[in-house]
Amino acid sequence: MLIVWSQGFDIGHADIDDDHRVVVDIINNLNDSHGDAALVSWALSGLDRYVRRHFAREEALMRAGHYPDLEAHVALHGEFRRQITELRDRWEHKRVPVIEAETLLILAHWWMTHIRHEDPKYVPWVIAPVSVRRLDAA
Ligand SMILES: [Fe+2]
Repeated sequence: MLIVWSQGFDIGHADIDDDHRVVVDIINNLNDSHGDAALVSWALSGLDRYVRRHFAREEALMRAGHYPDLEAHVALHGEFRRQITELRDRWEHKRVPVIEAETLLILAHWWMTHIRHEDPKYVPWVIAPVSVRRLDAA
């Protein structure tokens, strides 16, 4: 297991937190694949699909909450999606026989940094009631 989930990683939105945990599970599955090519292919396509769905969900929430740094956050999502697409591409064309430990560490580090330091920034716009936000902004 590469990442051990802690409740401290929750941002307080049930659907988003579930998504974050699923992606952690998939990264752990990749780490535990031990050369099982079918498992790697399955996990990589799941990661790609799930991350796209999750980012779309998050971006819709940020847009609905009028999060002011939406564009910068969307750009970060694009960066991670590109990393996954490139990894999948390299895997499917067998330019890599296994997923290197270093590659997984980079993915895991990106994901955990994002959910611990970037996602909490939108929480006041997405979770707090509008009236509270207005008071904060006043
Ligand atoms: Fe995010």
